[in-house]
Amino acid sequence: MQVIRDREALVAALATMRAEGARVALVPTMGALHAGHIALIEAAKRPGTKVVASIFVNPKQFGAGEDLGRYPRREASDLRMLNEAGCDLVWMPSVEIMYPEGHATNIRVAGVSEGFDGESRPGHFDGVATVVAKLFNQIGPDAAYFGEKDFQQLAVIRRMVADLDFPIEVVGVPTQREDDGLALSSRNIYLDEEERAKAVALPRALGVAARAIGRGEDVATVLADARATLTAAGFEVDYVALADAETLVPDPAADRPRRLLAAARMGSARLIDNIAISDG
Ligand code: PAF
Repeated sequence: MQVIRDREALVAALATMRAEGARVALVPTMGALHAGHIALIEAAKRPGTKVVASIFVNPKQFGAGEDLGRYPRREASDLRMLNEAGCDLVWMPSVEIMYPEGHATNIRVAGVSEGFDGESRPGHFDGVATVVAKLFNQIGPDAAYFGEKDFQQLAVIRRMVADLDFPIEVVGVPTQREDDGLALSSRNIYLDEEERAKAVALPRALGVAARAIGRGEDVATVLADARATLTAAGFEVDYVALADAETLVPDPAADRPRRLLAAARMGSARLIDNIAISDG
């Protein structure tokens, strides 16, 4: 596995892959890898494909007062995990390479990025879209893999790829979970033992609510019940909402693909999760 930190070496390595006729698949990450990221690498591995992972803690997607400073950085174990998973190349640019003096262009994806986390974390999705567009231009992948856990992020990236004509297949990979259902996240390390035990209420409340909505129960009542359950479990709820799975417009018609999304704070950890609504 090649580990590359400068642009010229990246260009040369990608040229070699292309000269060998390889298809290139990109798995963008911010490091602090867990089994969810490894599922992305596994999904990206195909015959004839070279898998490129990026590790870059993107300052532009953290707001003032968010966890940029304490975001876990675990380079040695990340590289070991990627190597064991069969990743071919790791792109690890510095902040100076990604945002050199004078960098002034930001991408804003209207609509889909504006509600939910876009409202609670102003500028977050502009930072995500900007860095992902840069990674797409730097690597030029044929396909890129993102976890469904960050469902709004995935919708924002799909919209950007369509709008800006990136010739890239965007692949969403199902959320990986602990045995009790908690979605894997690099931020779960912020939970202490007691908070971790309580945090399981999030996937459970979403599961209960999704089944009730699928059975045709009143959506407003179901969402209010889910909020109450989470609050009783010790969460400070940001949102629990039903949205169109493609556009993320709230209160979708029942014949549209629908997604139930939630964000809630447990102690110092802000957790997000989501689940599809299936009928019946
Ligand atoms: O999901 C993440 O880890 C990040 O938002 C991403 C896509 C790597 C962009 O920094």
